[in-house]
Amino acid sequence: MTLPKHIAIIMDGNGRWAQLKRKPRTFGHIKGTRVAKKIITACSRRGIKNLTLYAFSSENWFRPQAEVSFLMKILRRYLDRETENLVKENIRFSVIGDLSRVPADVYKAILQAGEATAQCTGLNLVFALSYGSRQEITLAVREIAERVAAGELSPDDIDEAMISTSLSTYPTPDPDLIVRTSGEQRLSNFLLWQAAYSEFYFTEVLWPNFTESHLEEALSAFSVRQRRYGKVSTNDNLEKLSN
Ligand code: IPE
Ligand code: IPE
Ligand code: MG
Repeated sequence: MTLPKHIAIIMDGNGRWAQLKRKPRTFGHIKGTRVAKKIITACSRRGIKNLTLYAFSSENWFRPQAEVSFLMKILRRYLDRETENLVKENIRFSVIGDLSRVPADVYKAILQAGEATAQCTGLNLVFALSYGSRQEITLAVREIAERVAAGELSPDDIDEAMISTSLSTYPTPDPDLIVRTSGEQRLSNFLLWQAAYSEFYFTEVLWPNFTESHLEEALSAFSVRQRRYGKVSTNDNLEKLSN
């Protein structure tokens, strides 16, 4: 079975899951964090090399203050409790996104988890936190423009590889598979450049109900996809096409 080298997951539906149970949205976020933990371990055991989890978007800052604070609190709690386990499971942790906006205690916990797991060689686990792909691309463009203005680069030097390496995801490869739960079929400002040739897998399952067997379903759907990258697949008969 062909495994994706990089899976990116838009973990969506926590609020609706809680609402169905007549509970506050925060209840859904707590269950969602537990599910994230399980899926991280499952990907690690499955031999997936890279996993990016969309944990909080740059637009999520516009949610009610109480929900934002709660999300920051559970993130910090997750890091405090899980860092040791990540080390044990040989998982390297890092974050992409605008960390200047996260509270100081969360920022510290992120740094600590990053340092503690820096030497780990198993799963590369990336949390997209306070992340927005348009902001990421804007920053990269600005940085390249500054180098041109400083005379270090000529505009002709700018190519796709330079843009890729200027993004915060570098050196993680582009995602082969992007999963989104809860029935929504959009990217919501996630990995816009990097998703150029990603396979998409949408499921109605709400994130708090997502299990290891749902992950297996996504992986087996991926394994039978034909990725053509604009070319014709090797077993396509060109004569047949021209008839
Ligand atoms: C995803 O669940 C978690 C975050 C965006 C932080 P939501 O909170 O978006 O849940 P729904 O989409 O409202 O159900
Ligand atoms: C995207 O979900 C962000 C995360 C899952 C962290 P949202 O729930 O914020 O996305 P929209 O608003 O439905 O597009
Ligand atoms: Mg949502």
